[in-house]
Amino acid sequence: LEVLSVASEIYPVIKTGGLADVAGALPGALEPAGVRMKVLLPGYPSVLNQVEAGAPVAVFDDLLGVRAELRPATSRGLDLLILDAPDLFAREGGPYLAANGYDHADNWRRFAALSLAGAKIAQGAVEGYRPDILHAHDWQAALAPVYLRFCGERSVKTVLTIHNLAFQGNFSASIFPELGLPEEAFSIDGVEFFGNVGFLKGGIFASDRVTTVSPTYAREILTEDGGMGLGGLLRMRGDAVCGIINGIDTAAWDPAGDPHLASHFDRKSLKKRDVNRNALIEEMGLEPDDGPIVAIVSRLTWQKGLDVVAEMAEAILDKGIRLVVEGTGDAQIEGAFQKLAVRHRGRIGVHIGYDEALSHRIQGGADAILIPSRFEPCGLTQLYGLRYGCIPMVTRVGGLADTVIDANYAALEAKCATGIIFEEASEASVLTAMDRLLDIYARPKLWRSMQQTAMQSDVSWTTSAKLYADLYRDMTKDDQE
Ligand code: ADP
Ligand code: GLC
Repeated sequence: LEVLSVASEIYPVIKTGGLADVAGALPGALEPAGVRMKVLLPGYPSVLNQVEAGAPVAVFDDLLGVRAELRPATSRGLDLLILDAPDLFAREGGPYLAANGYDHADNWRRFAALSLAGAKIAQGAVEGYRPDILHAHDWQAALAPVYLRFCGERSVKTVLTIHNLAFQGNFSASIFPELGLPEEAFSIDGVEFFGNVGFLKGGIFASDRVTTVSPTYAREILTEDGGMGLGGLLRMRGDAVCGIINGIDTAAWDPAGDPHLASHFDRKSLKKRDVNRNALIEEMGLEPDDGPIVAIVSRLTWQKGLDVVAEMAEAILDKGIRLVVEGTGDAQIEGAFQKLAVRHRGRIGVHIGYDEALSHRIQGGADAILIPSRFEPCGLTQLYGLRYGCIPMVTRVGGLADTVIDANYAALEAKCATGIIFEEASEASVLTAMDRLLDIYARPKLWRSMQQTAMQSDVSWTTSAKLYADLYRDMTKDDQE
């Protein structure tokens, strides 16, 4: 089975969040299930600088008004097709934001072009390549199924995965004529969304199947609140919508061999973890004492509930807990944490910035990782935490609720607890969770056994890759009927 995956970021070549991890891990995870996956991604400068892209396998003279070449490359076993379109992608800043922190004004064209290129490849633009399925990720690729639905000749099955319903790619109706779609696509049965053009909306409508990244989030998005305006359409799609939990790349995230760690460890040699803990204390300038170290590695945004933590952090520190924060995001939240770091030197260490290696050192050294999200489609940092014995403290939402087993009395007795779940991103709720953490942490044997149980959790792609493979097979079966 051949699948063309279309994504706006992919680890290790370009990453701003979990989407990249997932898009980067899926091809390898699917291989044993007999699925071959190529990935189409934009030719950002950082991508073209990192890989050796080959000669063009297709040339688009007029892809929504720009010239583009499609160039193959490989990176760590990934089979990439890079959309080299300098007018769209050769610029400063990140994949979505300009250097001034605002969205690139032509993001609609950049990602419509990516989607259109995906649709053209699915239609045979690359000689000798005929994917059975196009798998689009998030709004940036969501028009690919729309192009296939409205402009395609050859029938190609399509899957859209929603990694985050909050990012919908909604744009003014005035761009519609430039998308190269037929008039009828600007309707409720198409990309029209409250008078605007909705990329994700169009994709949800036009894809054969819609998946999201955890079973609980798949239910949450059907509700009025969780649906963020798209709940009605998602409910209408009925059985076409399902949730498949993300795994993690267990080779890139392996405490027994992680090149970023000072000391390797596994479930049976947890003592060796202390070396990393001490190194983290030193690196983040923390005072040595007997209390636990709670970490945050995250985008610093409202979704993640970190405005709440920034506001109440002193109450956490007052309990004898030290904090480590690594993140970037809202300027206000960044500033609040920076201030805390100055005022409470030794109690809270803050790194504002994006640093992959540091995120490994934190998971390998901190005692717990705090994820107080207001909503969380899946979440990956709790999975890294489980694998590294860094106990996740999470709200009961989305994929967090699906992957962590709360340390309630029964679960502790049964030795199956892997973390601490609390109700919501509020000061009271977070503080209750901190009290529960202190209780367990004060009983070293219990703590150690909980770390060991956490490290035994299956966070690999094995089960979920099979679910994707089954989904693909099921869809192509429809075709033959
Ligand atoms: P989201 O995709 O919503 O940001 P996830 O938990 O799915 O949340 O994925 C976040 C990914 O980004 C994880 O791999 C996490 O380690 C990484 N990450 C987030 N912030 C940083 C940072 N400042 N430095 C390094 N890695 C980060
Ligand atoms: C999104 C979500 C996150 C999820 C990631 C990968 O960024 O916010 O919860 O883990 O996508 O699917």
